[in-house]
Amino acid sequence: MAKSKVGILTAGGDSPGLNAAIRGFGKTAIGYYDMELVGFRDGITGLVENRHEKLGSNRLSGILTVGGTILGTSRDKVNKFPTADGPVDMVPTVVENYDRLGLDALIMLGGGGTAKNALRLVDAGLNVIHLPKTIDNDIAMTDTTFGFATATEIATEAIDRVHSTAHSHHRIILTEIMGHRAGWLTLAAGIAGGADIILIPEIPYSVESVSETIKQRTKRGSTFSVVAVAEGARDVEDAADEQAARLLVKNAKTPEAQRAARTHLKHVEDTQREHTFKLARELESATGLEARVTILGYVQRGGSPSAADRLLATKLGTAAADLVAAKEYGVMVASRGDGTEPVPLTEVAGKVKLVPPDHGWVTAARKVGTGLGD
Ligand code: F6P
Repeated sequence: MAKSKVGILTAGGDSPGLNAAIRGFGKTAIGYYDMELVGFRDGITGLVENRHEKLGSNRLSGILTVGGTILGTSRDKVNKFPTADGPVDMVPTVVENYDRLGLDALIMLGGGGTAKNALRLVDAGLNVIHLPKTIDNDIAMTDTTFGFATATEIATEAIDRVHSTAHSHHRIILTEIMGHRAGWLTLAAGIAGGADIILIPEIPYSVESVSETIKQRTKRGSTFSVVAVAEGARDVEDAADEQAARLLVKNAKTPEAQRAARTHLKHVEDTQREHTFKLARELESATGLEARVTILGYVQRGGSPSAADRLLATKLGTAAADLVAAKEYGVMVASRGDGTEPVPLTEVAGKVKLVPPDHGWVTAARKVGTGLGD
């Protein structure tokens, strides 16, 4: 009987653990199930342009601890692929490439955008399995995503480190943490790093509340404060403006109205981009303390995955190979406790997992006296 042939790609923003997942899947597929493995270069781009390489055991050796992705990545969308003539639906091209290569399945490692691309390919008849990766931890229907644990370690260490310099200079230090529109990373690192105030998108803040927390600390003799700010956190007014702009996009009926609403949303997003610096200025004038900003940025996505992410990526990767062997497709491999569970992509694509305001981490933060800005 001919060997099963499987394609694999990494898409969206990179994150620690991608190589560990490629290895987990590949070693199981090749060594345990005797399958053939092909890696597409640069995510959806390589899938569309049919750029691929054969992945043998040698290529999978020594990558467990390596950051980034050996396959490269991109943020392209399969249905709106950028070309010189504008965005084109490349689903038929991908189907053609898949058939010509004689693939039995395609494994897509990525975040929310990748789940949507995966579902588009499932709808076109391909056998696709998605593995949840992102430092943002915002994918629905899975306990967690690989990349998140490592990024939490990195952001926690950063918060630890700014404490001493904030203390020495009697300053407020605001540390901006990634997470897109979800607050998981900031909340986790903020709690673990002992931030005095944690600001997340799910709980719009008031500058008065934040400055009041800082003033109370000063009264108690702490002349410095460490604030963990999510990149998506907004004060109450800005959050309302952004929400209204998103609603306009959602409700726009005609292509012209859509275009106008999108332009407006982009304008709102652009004007809010420097929100952490704006907050720093506002806190300086409200408290009389000096304020400084540290943007952690891409440091959070780089470098070797933590033990927890290596373990998670290996668990999900090997489970995906089991699903290929069982011919179970059209699913994301969710992490559930110590195990895994296949979840239909229809229940994942287009959904975002945000921090519920009554989440255990939120209540724990409040109980230890951390300000949440509300
Ligand atoms: O999704 C991961 C993430 O790092 C987000 O936290 C951040 O908003 C975004 O990607 C940055 O995207 P890019 O790599 O395209 O700049």
